[in-house]
Amino acid sequence: MDVLLTEKQRLWREQVAEFAHQYVFPEIENMEKGRFPRKLLTDMSKQGFLGIPIPSAYHGLGADFTTYIIAIHELSKVNAAIGVIVSVHTSVVTMPILAFGTSRQKESYVPLLATGQKLGAFCLTEPTAGSDASSILLRAERSDEHYVLNGTKIFITSGGEADVYLVFAVTDPSSTKKNISAFIVEKGTPGFTVGKDEKKMGLHGSKTVTLHFDGVRIPKEQLLGVEGEGFQIAMSSLNAGRIGIAAQSLGIAEAALTEAVSYLKQHPAGIETTIRLGDMAAKWEAAKLLVYQAASYKQANRPVTKEASMAKLFASKAAVEISTEAIHLLGMAGYTNRYKAERYFRDAKICEIYEGTSEIQRLVICKQLMK
Ligand code: CAA
Repeated sequence: MDVLLTEKQRLWREQVAEFAHQYVFPEIENMEKGRFPRKLLTDMSKQGFLGIPIPSAYHGLGADFTTYIIAIHELSKVNAAIGVIVSVHTSVVTMPILAFGTSRQKESYVPLLATGQKLGAFCLTEPTAGSDASSILLRAERSDEHYVLNGTKIFITSGGEADVYLVFAVTDPSSTKKNISAFIVEKGTPGFTVGKDEKKMGLHGSKTVTLHFDGVRIPKEQLLGVEGEGFQIAMSSLNAGRIGIAAQSLGIAEAALTEAVSYLKQHPAGIETTIRLGDMAAKWEAAKLLVYQAASYKQANRPVTKEASMAKLFASKAAVEISTEAIHLLGMAGYTNRYKAERYFRDAKICEIYEGTSEIQRLVICKQLMK
């Protein structure tokens, strides 16, 4: 990776790796028990990790997008749950508020999010709208100076723990196009409640919950961007989000590869077994190139839809394949919790699912190629 980074970014990578070793590592046991890493997030906030690509005028670190992606990659090497919490908070909540918000919205929310005083959650998926995001049903009805929200969101990362929710809702049910709008909803708003807390295969430190909106009345000033342009806000936010998830995948893949190499050094196997490391390492390097290329496109404000989807598609597949191989190379030991390989294996799979499944990434790439 070093050739892809500036000297400053390399030093930053070392700084994040050191932090992850010192602060994230000791929290893993608690996170694996399903506990949300609240104290760790406070420690991370002190380092500015909750607002890395946010300008210093809004109390962020003011760093470039690649610097942010390095942090997701390095944190996810130690624990992937913390990677997704930071990625969702930054890429699909703070960044869209900064990009589409009014001055009041930016001043009210961005500094608090960037400094980690408030945590963000992105609310798109519904019981009947996953991959087909434009078919959401949650309704936002205009009533005088307010919108009233009714409906349900599912599988919401950091739901219940977060303070600021970016919620996508239908504002014009009579229209099939441009009928979705984005809203900023605060925790504690009457009628907004937290439902089922999912028990997941992996990512145990990250919360995934159902959210209920039952007559939630929010001032019209909480509309983000223009009414009817919420789908575009969701999609453009997901471009940055997908690079974050690709970096999370890269972290998991690297950790699994490192574990396999170290195990085989200590427990030498035949060459037929050991050479499997070759494929694993080549896949990881290729994924890394795609992830850092997408990050550099985003950083340069170039169109990044195709590159973000390619990075997520390839890196998530690499994470699943490399972590599966790692278990296999460790044999029975890899299937036990004496080694971290089983956690990497459990954490990898979701990267092929959330923020758009691999099929959706192929569709997005295909649409861009046919344009
Ligand atoms: N960037 C910017 N704009 C985009 C875009 C992108 N990536 N993708 C689409 N758009 C725009 C299009 O330009 C189009 O705009 P116009 O109407 O002005 O032309 C509009 O959005 C509609 O685009 P499509 O016709 O392509 O929309 P579609 O309905 O056919 O579907 C889809 C597009 C790609 C399938 C989309 O529905 C999608 O991405 N689905 C996956 C949903 C998803 O990723 N969910 C993740 C949930 S959040 C999550 O997982 C977070 C978490 O907790 C970790």
